[in-house]
Amino acid sequence: MPRPIVATIHVDSIKHNLAVAKQRSPGAKAWGVLKANGYGHGLERVMRGLAEADGLALVEFDNAVRLREMGWKKPILLLEGFFGPADLKTMAGYDLQSAVHCTEQLEWLEAAQESLSARGIKFDLHLKMNTGMNRLGFMPDAYAAAHARLSAISCVGSITLMTHFANADDVDHPLMPITEQIRRFELGAAGLPGLRSLSNSAGVLLHHDTLRNDWVRPGIMLYGGTPGGGTAEEFGLQPAMTLSSELIGIQDIAAGDAVGYGSRFQAEGPMRIGVVACGYADGYPRHAPLGTPVLVDGVKTRLAGRVSMDMLTVDLTDLPSARVGSKVTLWGRGLPIDDVAESAGTIGYELMCALAQRVPVVEG
Ligand SMILES: Cc1ncc(COP(=O)(O)O)c(C=O)c1O
Repeated sequence: MPRPIVATIHVDSIKHNLAVAKQRSPGAKAWGVLKANGYGHGLERVMRGLAEADGLALVEFDNAVRLREMGWKKPILLLEGFFGPADLKTMAGYDLQSAVHCTEQLEWLEAAQESLSARGIKFDLHLKMNTGMNRLGFMPDAYAAAHARLSAISCVGSITLMTHFANADDVDHPLMPITEQIRRFELGAAGLPGLRSLSNSAGVLLHHDTLRNDWVRPGIMLYGGTPGGGTAEEFGLQPAMTLSSELIGIQDIAAGDAVGYGSRFQAEGPMRIGVVACGYADGYPRHAPLGTPVLVDGVKTRLAGRVSMDMLTVDLTDLPSARVGSKVTLWGRGLPIDDVAESAGTIGYELMCALAQRVPVVEG
């Protein structure tokens, strides 16, 4: 028998969540963001879930090629851009669109334009503005010049105006509120032609009334996680991954007994401790503290003891009917991944992406 841990991917929930994104983006087309193996859900499965998306966006060239090989016909966008001149060949061969965010990329395009144009190749590109995230993109005051330089390259087709928000989930952010990023975007893009692509999930969910997008780029919301600013349930999102396992052992311990490595958890009174086949080598966060929520037979209880490589321990004191073989939910349907992430001091994004390869994945 295999270990009882399994990740169940709910493809219908991805479809549902995409419909929520589209509903919140009237008039805009939607890229379905599926970088990092579809945020850990599996590229092919997510591609099916996002069949109604207008395009797919990611950062990995090999997976962009895989999407084409698996039959995706609509646009594909490389959000981090191309990493060297050789990537232009792949972009041409597989009809890939790309972000352009630095001068080096302009130089690579200029150097390759003659041979690419001779083959009739025209790239649809997304010129990224750095409006305050200070990660990728041209500064607002350099944006028009970058746009002019890109427009002059013969192998360039369309140019979409693009930026990315640092704090779309926190309207009143003291350092970089979204209003300031929008102000900078409007300044830098003033008078430039082109479609606009601004919103991530938080932009879609929290700012759809005020932002003007031709294309939106939702990611986390498609998987049923919140980007912040509200719970997934409040936004009408459904979890796309349920990580479940079973109890594989039970210990009755006395007051003063300690559990697990480091003997971090000490019982204050007699307790039942359940041992779950799930550990950090499965992608469960090792730093999840005492009290992190876990469901046993659908009833919420708590982590008790340090998470080890293959196992974690839970408090069954108030669950007298729990047995070896009882069903355990680590996150997903019935237990929001964001609640587990919050307890562990991280975000749902990280937990999804960290699902380990050894965990069997099924659909359901
Ligand atoms: C450029 C860009 N657009 C969109 C997204 C999707 O963001 P989210 O998952 O918060 O919706 C990301 C993710 O980091 C991104 O880097």
